[in-house]
Amino acid sequence: MTSQAEFHDRMLSLGLARVAEQAAIASARLVGRGDEKAADQAAVNAMRDQLNLLDIAGVVVIGEGERDEAPMLYIGEEVGTGNGPGVDIALDPLEGTTLTAKDMPNALTVIAMGPRGSMLHAPDVYMEKLAIGPGYEKDVVSLDMSPKERVAALAKAKGCDMSDITVCILERPRHQDMIDEVRETGAAIRLITDGDVAGVMHCAEAEITGIDMYMGEGGAPEGVLAASALKCMGGQIWGKLLFRNDDEKGRAAKAGITDLDRVYSRDEMVTQDVIFAATGVTNGSLVNGIKREPGWFTTETLIMRSKTGSVRRMQYRTPA
Ligand code: FBP
Repeated sequence: MTSQAEFHDRMLSLGLARVAEQAAIASARLVGRGDEKAADQAAVNAMRDQLNLLDIAGVVVIGEGERDEAPMLYIGEEVGTGNGPGVDIALDPLEGTTLTAKDMPNALTVIAMGPRGSMLHAPDVYMEKLAIGPGYEKDVVSLDMSPKERVAALAKAKGCDMSDITVCILERPRHQDMIDEVRETGAAIRLITDGDVAGVMHCAEAEITGIDMYMGEGGAPEGVLAASALKCMGGQIWGKLLFRNDDEKGRAAKAGITDLDRVYSRDEMVTQDVIFAATGVTNGSLVNGIKREPGWFTTETLIMRSKTGSVRRMQYRTPA
């Protein structure tokens, strides 16, 4: 028989899907309009409004920034009606603001929820990330390895040539040496201009997306969201926080992080079962973007639960 807790978790996942959907719909009119801030703001407003309808006592642990820099969905903000379970929430109302403004692939609205204390309170700094899909031995690749060693180790584990491996990397000058080294192995590289949550998630569905491994430096909050997604889909991710100055170290201290050199595994970033929802804003290989037809919006949302490993894709059509 289904337990009450299980039932509640299921119901919440559908509520979470609505939150992601509404954020995507709110930003739909701003796709391809060259205004990143307006698109982000629309998604933030809608996500917050929807979140506050849920019967949860939620606290935002990964959000739009510190309280003094984000008026809404700031870290520590309490959300929900207060009538329900105490939960931690990680969110990015619009992951890929530039992708949205330029109508480029893989912009998503993203939200994850878990019991209180289940998620790393990652400060808004960079994180060195490395991710692979499911089905590999634990620690088959590691952040200690050079990019070349990672490709070699993954190819060996997959039973293929290094040239059969595809690595996803954010196209940034800081990654040029990494890109050059991966190229020397013969592996292919899918360069993305933004959106490393989607970049990491692509590893979990390698047969569909063609991506075997993600590596490089991106936002630490996005790292925790990506870890939540992989906890549901399967796959491994490692992350190490990177600090460029004392201000960033101060952010870590504020978040209660004392070991600045620690490498976090997926299950250290997300320690308990979570639910995760993401709606496509622009088209991507994981989910379709919002479709606009005269009078209608259609969205596609990925809803996942790590407890069961269920991955559901849900279409929603609503009058525009
Ligand atoms: P935004 O949606 O906030 O613009 O972030 C997009 C993103 O590409 C993330 O996916 C990634 O983690 C981060 O920016 C990389 O940061 P930077 O652009 O500074 O290299």
